[in-house]
Amino acid sequence: AAHKPLAGRRALVTSGPTHEPIDPVRYIANRSSGKQGHAIAGALARLGAAVTLVSGPTRLPDPPGCAVVPIETAREMLAACEAALPADVAVCAAAVADWRVAGASDRKLKKDGGGPPALALAENPDILATLSKAGERRPALVVGFAAETGDVVATATAKRARKGCDWIVANDVSLGTTTFGGADNTVHLIRESGVESWPTMGKDAVAARLAEAVAAHFQTV
Ligand code: C5P
Repeated sequence: AAHKPLAGRRALVTSGPTHEPIDPVRYIANRSSGKQGHAIAGALARLGAAVTLVSGPTRLPDPPGCAVVPIETAREMLAACEAALPADVAVCAAAVADWRVAGASDRKLKKDGGGPPALALAENPDILATLSKAGERRPALVVGFAAETGDVVATATAKRARKGCDWIVANDVSLGTTTFGGADNTVHLIRESGVESWPTMGKDAVAARLAEAVAAHFQTV
């Protein structure tokens, strides 16, 4: 039906931060609220897609119509994404921690007079790049996000090539610091065919417009 253009399509969305344990009670995280990713999952579901939302810890309700897989770490997020394949479209909106603590302690670290512990970091898997290079398991359409300052479009265009995804939604995070946690977003949609700069709008409106673009893409392929 025209109002459910994504009926029969499978979508995978990542959202939220990841939490990377230091020990059983402490972790490294970031300020991602999950609002944009959750809104995208909900918008794709409203257009009829069967949506799996793989999300780090957020304060948000589950978007209606989505199967939500809660995870904490980047490695758990990657495993959950791989388990959710095959998918027609993947949208990676999560703010994945670039690094985890190497050899996180399974006992609470103590102040033992020996000074603060040195935390060694290890690189986390890049979920967007992994999905983009997944060979025959690769979703037909892979969409990434890029939070940038400065020359937002040029930097995000380079990121699109480096990650191997099809589209990049570039956020301008220099326009105040309200994108992280805020209700509005100012984005550029970067595709092979060129760049669309969208006006500042609510994250729900960005999500609805992105879901429409996904639906239009599948109508023309
Ligand atoms: O490299 P950068 O973190 O700026 O890239 C942002 C994009 O890559 C987002 O789509 C984010 O969800 C994704 N990403 C990922 N796994 C990582 C790091 C980033 O999926 N480890």
